[in-house]
Amino acid sequence: MSIALILNSGRAEEWKAEINKHLPEIKVEVYPQIENYDEIEFALCWKPEEDYYAHFPNLKVIQSAGAGIDHLFPKSIPAHIRTCRIVDPMLKSDMFEHVLTCLMHSMKNFSAYATDKAKKHWEPLVYKSIAQTSVTILGLGEIGGYVAERLVQLGFKVNGWSSSPKSLQGVNAFTGIGGLGSAVENTDFIVNVLPLTDSTRGILNHELFNLCAKGTVLVNVGRGEHLVEEHLLAAIARKQIAHAYLDVFHQEPLPVDHPFWNCSAIFITPHVASRTNIGSSVMQVVDNYSRMAAGRPLLNEVSLEKGY
Ligand code: GLV
Repeated sequence: MSIALILNSGRAEEWKAEINKHLPEIKVEVYPQIENYDEIEFALCWKPEEDYYAHFPNLKVIQSAGAGIDHLFPKSIPAHIRTCRIVDPMLKSDMFEHVLTCLMHSMKNFSAYATDKAKKHWEPLVYKSIAQTSVTILGLGEIGGYVAERLVQLGFKVNGWSSSPKSLQGVNAFTGIGGLGSAVENTDFIVNVLPLTDSTRGILNHELFNLCAKGTVLVNVGRGEHLVEEHLLAAIARKQIAHAYLDVFHQEPLPVDHPFWNCSAIFITPHVASRTNIGSSVMQVVDNYSRMAAGRPLLNEVSLEKGY
């Protein structure tokens, strides 16, 4: 029995060293340098190519190297293969810190002051305090729920929206497509942390932007495919959306000729809001390998049907 690392992230050697520290007797191979494909029962994957699992006739477990599983082609994974994701406190706190940075950057007008500095222009602007600011979090799962609760603790007014009902202390929670309008109307910020599924793809669209108050700010730290990019550019042009903080894109890296690069109302980060911390996540990968070998229930197994 051995482990395959199918990682399009350039972090394979780091993962291999960490896994081997805890499982020194297990062969860990980096795809496509696999000696015997029949021996692989467990694969740690990040953005593999389509049909990757078909190379491994005895594969039992696919472990995502991140919180999401959308990059694993979940709809085509055969039913006998079980799929797990990473749930790690670091992923949650890093996401919270990234979101908080976007909110504060916008509330305190730092972008306008950067533009003013270039022009040597001095103009104090009205700023917002935390107590005056409302934030709607789309997605109240492990990460979104944590971000929502931390923002409540800081004193923000927080709405949350999720496909199934969720109850979180201090969060004004809405559910289902019917609740989406109420969740996003009259809010200062919309923060998307949803998993990417058939029902959430394209959710950040024209219709949603029209439900928001004029001048709402968008933070997308979910997936690029949640956003209809042309709809955002149109909403920014008519100031329906004041600006957007985007960490994820349809195509990553963002192509050099993409219109987002030249839109001053869009702030771009290169999918860094919350990166898997190998040191703090490796034990759940190791644990899942041992659980698989012992026929015990896996940690953080996902539903391929639901997509998360
Ligand atoms: C990052 O995008 C992840 O899914 O962990």
